[in-house]
Formats: sequence, structure tokens, C-alpha cells
Amino acid sequence: MTILVTGGAGFIGSNFVLDWLANAGETVINLDALTYAGNLDNLATLVGDERHVFVHGSIGDFDLVSRLLAEHQPRAIVNFAAESHVDRSIHGPGDFIQTNIVGTFQLLEATRAYWGALTGEERENFRFLHVSTDEVYGSLAKDDPAFSETHRYEPNSPYSASKAASDHLVRAYHHTYGLPVLTTNCSNNYGPYHFPEKLIPLVIHNALAGQPLPIYGDGQQIRDWLYVKDHCSAIRRVLEAGRLGETYNVGGWNEKANLAVVDTLCAILDELQPRGDGLSYRAQVTFVKDRPGHDRRYAIDASKLERELGWKPAETFETGIRKTVCWYLDNQAWVNNVTSGSYRDWVGQQYEGKQ
Ligand code: NAD
Ligand code: TYD
Repeated sequence: MTILVTGGAGFIGSNFVLDWLANAGETVINLDALTYAGNLDNLATLVGDERHVFVHGSIGDFDLVSRLLAEHQPRAIVNFAAESHVDRSIHGPGDFIQTNIVGTFQLLEATRAYWGALTGEERENFRFLHVSTDEVYGSLAKDDPAFSETHRYEPNSPYSASKAASDHLVRAYHHTYGLPVLTTNCSNNYGPYHFPEKLIPLVIHNALAGQPLPIYGDGQQIRDWLYVKDHCSAIRRVLEAGRLGETYNVGGWNEKANLAVVDTLCAILDELQPRGDGLSYRAQVTFVKDRPGHDRRYAIDASKLERELGWKPAETFETGIRKTVCWYLDNQAWVNNVTSGSYRDWVGQQYEGKQ
């Protein structure tokens, strides 16, 4: 048995591939375009493992995807491939439209043709799982109830709008063509192999490098945080037992204001790797200009996933964030490798003039 994973060299995708091979043992075909966010270093432990077949290419390449499906006959597709950073989508939305919308469309088209030609059990058991985000639901006020699966779509950034469009396409392929799809909408992930342009790895990296810890606006924006391995276990569970055509919200029941997240990171770093001058890393906190259209609060109600499929996160924020800081401290070579690349140009462009 084989599954096709797209975007499996990125943050969540690579964690998923590692997790899948540790838990399920089925071969993974990993299709990734290796954009700035794709990093084969994440999968270095799989070198020589025949259960992992890496293919460099785009989900938007209909012919390539069709060839891969015909050759490997996967029983499922898990679609992680996307442009994923909100700030980049503000600077340049074009790639987000191409990959998240047009790419997902081409992937769905190739999948529809492949699945349409399957028969018997293979056709019945086939699944297309689309990995999406809570950001499609828009922004919550402080006392609003958390997002449920029936919350209306109100995406506010080019990133979330492009993900919303892809979710709608996936839904339409189920309703129109009967494609056996599942969609997961997850909150903010954190953990190993997180590219240091996102809040948590950026703060850990900048703290250790003696650089400013940039807080957008007043730092009181709220996110729900989920340890990445819990996201992986949720996806495995939905793939295994999710009801066709359904959407499942995935979250960690961990709502935190950004400033509180940064404060926790500083406290753990103060304990594990104190600054030479005896000051706290908090001294590096710097308030910068806010993100345009910045969503104020995300919160996920993940009770459907728990009720129907018995899934719950294994980590609390406290256990997960400590593991994450330890991972970054133990894997500075990985961080250096990433930060010596094009990431540096991006940081320059992003923060220049903001401080
Ligand atoms: P990421 O940016 O770290 O990785 C994306 C991966 O997709 C990279 O390896 C990149 O090379 C690849 N990719 C980009 N365009 C491609 C294309 N056209 N064809 C094939 N591969 C392509 O993203 P991530 O944080 O790992 O997110 C993975 C998925 O999960 C995305 O769909 C994202 O929207 C969703 N998601 C992320 C979070 C989060 O907190 N990071 C939360 C909820 C949902
Ligand atoms: P991010 O990790 O980019 O995820 P998302 O925008 O998808 O939620 O950002 C998490 C929160 O942290 C978000 O409210 C923006 C904020 N943030 C900062 O305050 N400073 C930063 O340097 C970054 C990257 C994010």
C-alpha cells in the first residue's frame, strides 16, 4: 500500500512523513516543489529508506501528478502543498493563487481522473485529504465562541482567501463528482522543522542570535497553538475513519496572546541557555508596525473530532513548547543551514523600516 503526500518537505508535511513511516509503515510518495519552505534536511533520517520516494515537482503539474498516480496507485492523497505564510501573501499574493488555488485544482483534476478509473474496493477505499487552516473562518472578537465546522468562511488575508478557495474546490469535487474527500482545518502548529519566519521559531532564533524579537502591534492577538505531532495524529485518524465529505477542526485548546507566547519562550530560554550578561531574553522584545489586516483572534472548537473519532491532543502548550525549544537548541545546525539561505533576504525585506 502507498500514499501520496504533497508538500512533504515543508514543516508539517515532513513531520507527517516521519510520523507516518514510524507508525504505519506504508510507502510514501512525497511530491514537493522545494520552494524556499521545502527542506530535504528535514527528511535526512530517511535517506536509504525505500518506503520514502521523493519526487521534485508541483501539484499544479497535471501530467506529472497523473503519471505518479498511474505508476504508484496510491490508496490516498494527503495535500499539504501550499504557500503558507500570511506576511508573504501580503507582499506578493500571486504564488498563493497559483499553488493554493490553481495547484489544488490541477491536483483534484488528476485525482478525479485516477479515482474515476478505479474499481471495487480500491475505488471505495480511496481518500483525498485536504489539509487546511482555521484562518479561513476569519477573526473572532474576545468573547466569541470558538470556530466550529459550520462557522461561515470569512478569510481576511490573501493566504486565507486562497486556502478558502481550495477548501471550496475540494468540497465541490465531492458534491459534484463524488470524489471521496476529507478536509481538516487546523490552528497554528509549532514544533521541530518549523521554518524560522513564523513567530515561534523566529523568536527562538532571534533570541539566541541577540537580535530583536519583533512583536506586531500590541502583541495581544490570540492564536490557538497545536504541537505539530498532534496535528499529524489527527490527520492519520481522519484519514482512517473520517466521514466522507466532512470537515474536521483540529486544535490544541491552547489560546494564547502572542506576547504571552514570546514571554514563555524567553522564560524557557533564560532557564536552559541564559544570556551571558544575566539579563532576560525579554530585553530583546521590540514592538514593530502591525501586519495589515491582522486577524485579532483565532480559536478552534475541536469537539467534533473528539466526539466522532476519539482524537485529543497529547501535548499541552507547556509540554509542547518546552520540547520545541529543546529541539531548536539541539538542532542549531539545521537552523544555521536554513538561515544561511534565501531566508535572510526575506527577513531583510520584511523587517526593514518596521523598527
Ligand atoms: P510550509 O510552507 O512549511 O511547507 C509547504 C511545502 O509545500 C513546502 O515544502 C513547499 O516546497 C511545498 N510546496 C509549495 N508549493 C508547492 C507546489 N506547487 N507543489 C508541490 N509542493 C509545493 O507549510 P506548512 O506550515 O508545513 O503547512 C502545510 C499545510 O498545512 C499548508 O497547506 C497550510 O496551509 C496548512 N496549515 C498550516 C498551519 C501552520 O501552522 N503551519 C496550520 C494549519 C494549516
Ligand atoms: P505566524 O507565525 O506568522 O502565523 P499566522 O499569521 O498564520 O497566525 O504569526 C503568529 C502570530 O504572531 C500572528 O498574530 C502574527 C504574529 N507575529 C509577530 O508578532 N511577529 C512576527 O515576527 C511574526 C512572524 C508573527
